Amino acid sequence: MRRSRLALLGIAALAVGIVGIVAVSAVSGMLVGAPGALPVPSQTAANSAVANGSLIYFTATDSSGRALTYQGRGMMMMMRVTCAGCHGPDGHGEQTPMFVSPNITYANLTSPAGMLEPNGERIPPYNDETLKRAITQGIDSQGKPLDWPMPRWQMPDMDLDDLIAFLKTLK
Ligand code: HEC
Repeated sequence: MRRSRLALLGIAALAVGIVGIVAVSAVSGMLVGAPGALPVPSQTAANSAVANGSLIYFTATDSSGRALTYQGRGMMMMMRVTCAGCHGPDGHGEQTPMFVSPNITYANLTSPAGMLEPNGERIPPYNDETLKRAITQGIDSQGKPLDWPMPRWQMPDMDLDDLIAFLKTLK
C-alpha cells in the first residue's frame, strides 16, 4: 500500500515536471519568435547579411567568430585595424597625420560619374568584382595598386558579399 502510494507520488511529480518543461519551452519559443511571428525568409537573410557585414566593418571579426586576417603594413599602425578605424564609422573617409582614406560608401564607390577620391579626382566606378579585388588584393578600379595603409584582406566570399551589403547601407 505504502509502496504504491509512493509510486503514484513519483509519477505525479514526473508529470508536473514534464508539463513544466513543455510550458517553459513554449514560452521561450514564443519569446524568441516574438517580434515578427513569421519573418519573410529573404528579408531575414538580407538582414543577417547586413548584420554580419557591419560586424566585419567595425570589428574585423565575422558572425562565426572568425577574426579576419590581412597582409600589409596597415598592421604596423598602433591602432585597431578595422574598416571603421580607417574609413570612419560612416565610411566617409578620414584625414589622419599618417594617411588620407577615401569615402567607401557604396554610392561613392559605384558612382556613374566615377568614384570621387579625397584629392578631388575621379576614377572609374567600382562594381562588385573590382570592389572585392580592391579589398582582397589592394588593386583599384583602374588596375593600380592602392597605397600601403590599405590592408589586403583575407575573407570568405560570403563575408565579402555581406561586407558589400553593409557598405550599401552607409549614407
Ligand atoms: C589601416 C587603415 C585602413 C584599413 C584598416 C582599411 N582601409 Fe581601406 N583604404 C585605406 C586607405 C589609406 C586607402 C586609400 C589608398 C589609396 O588611395 O591608394 C584605402 C582604400 C580603400 C578602397 C579603395 C578606394 C579607392 O580609393 O579606390 C576600398 C574599397 C577600401 N579601402 C575598403 C576597405 C574596407 C572594406 C576595409 C575593411 C575590411 C578597409 N578598407 C580597411 C586605409 C584602410
